[in-house]
Amino acid sequence: MDFSYVLSIILKILAFIGFYQSENELRTRKKNVIIIMADDMGYNDVSFRGNTEIPTYNIDALAFSGVVLNNFKTPPMCTPSRSALMTGKYPHKIGMHDFVIVSNEPWGLDPKEKILPQYFKEAGYVTRLVGKWHLGHFQQQYTPTKRHFDSFFGYLTGVIDYFDHTNFGPNSSTGLDFRRNLEIDKTSTTKYATDLFTEEAVQLIKSHNKSKPLYLQLNHLAPHSGSRLDRPMDVKPEILSKFSYIEDPVRRNLSAMIYELDKSVGEVIHALKDNDMLDDSIIIFYNDNGCPTYGHFGTHCSNYPLRGQKATAFEGGTRTNAIIYSNELPKGSIRNQMIHVSDLLPTLDTLSGASFKYPTKIDGIDQTTRAAQGGGWSPYGIHMKATSTMWEVNGGLFFHPSY
Ligand SMILES: *[C@@H]1O[C@H](CO)[C@@H](O)[C@H](O)[C@H]1NC(C)=O
Ligand SMILES: *[C@@H]1O[C@H](CO)[C@@H](O)[C@H](O)[C@H]1NC(C)=O
Ligand SMILES: *[C@@H]1O[C@H](CO)[C@@H](O)[C@H](O)[C@H]1NC(C)=O
Repeated sequence: MDFSYVLSIILKILAFIGFYQSENELRTRKKNVIIIMADDMGYNDVSFRGNTEIPTYNIDALAFSGVVLNNFKTPPMCTPSRSALMTGKYPHKIGMHDFVIVSNEPWGLDPKEKILPQYFKEAGYVTRLVGKWHLGHFQQQYTPTKRHFDSFFGYLTGVIDYFDHTNFGPNSSTGLDFRRNLEIDKTSTTKYATDLFTEEAVQLIKSHNKSKPLYLQLNHLAPHSGSRLDRPMDVKPEILSKFSYIEDPVRRNLSAMIYELDKSVGEVIHALKDNDMLDDSIIIFYNDNGCPTYGHFGTHCSNYPLRGQKATAFEGGTRTNAIIYSNELPKGSIRNQMIHVSDLLPTLDTLSGASFKYPTKIDGIDQTTRAAQGGGWSPYGIHMKATSTMWEVNGGLFFHPSY
């Protein structure tokens, strides 16, 4: 591991917060919003929860520098969870609650629903999607660039292979699923998906024209199992070798996937800093739903101490790790109030200063408003006292010996 790299990220984040934290500062501009989503990541597969097998240096640093949403709830599967994020509505109210979209199925999130990129677009943002979509692809009108994303680089179905980018689907619905906007992208085949998405996100940030705010959604494939049943969790051998101390070969591969995901988080934060955007950004890292330990696409991940796994209604399927970072939020603190993924839309609206135009009622609750009622947190000086600090989580951030 490159410890100096990790340390430098932590120090840089801390330095930034130290210099710029000003709780009552009046914001004159809309903040960039960067959502980094993991796919099927275990609740206990981050080291800030006390896991000693898989070090997640950068995610931990983000948690230490931001707010851990400690009671963050999602639907237990991908398509329902992502539709709740996008619309701010409960999936059962928009016909998205039942299951994920299988590759050959002709349905998707209703194009009449107003979704995050449209809210941000109307508020003057540049809107970018990198990585997974999985909200419908049987007609073009269901796909990202027809739904207010200025650009899209990634895949439309639920899962692809990390290297050859073919999807998983019954019969003839399997094939290359990698696109730049509407076009199939064959140029990047054989390149590791996590690297591709990171490079794209970093490039988009570095070339961003700051006259407009940026909304970037980076929906990683990792650490979901890959699509190919003959090598479901293919990783780079040089990364795998770092985890030779893990005996279970499946979990060893999982660790390598998470290592790459964590590295991506660090690189995105570095890119924001390099383009002088970190100070004006809200970063959310979260996982779409609980992880599948065993069974279909099982990765030997861990939701400990939560019961159950992906696709169950137990907390192991519905409670996930979520962190919000902004230099206006208290650093290294925990909020225990229940927050649903559909709450992110109105909460991000307030935190970013975007001023969304709401056409209809949504289900999500602005969690910064709840702060004013004594329940939560807010950037405007109405902070609830943290109920605990990072130090108290399973021995704390510095649990891992590398620190
Ligand atoms: C796959 O194709 C076979 C033969 O055409 C058909 O019987 C089967 O129902 C198909 N399976 C799915 C899941 O579409
Ligand atoms: C950024 O956008 C503004 C407004 O469109 C434009 O005037 C400016 O030239 C752009 N800057 C760069 C570096 O492209
Ligand atoms: C783990 O990764 C190696 C390549 O580094 C690969 O050969 C192996 O098949 C992978 N294991 C699984 C279960 O996919």
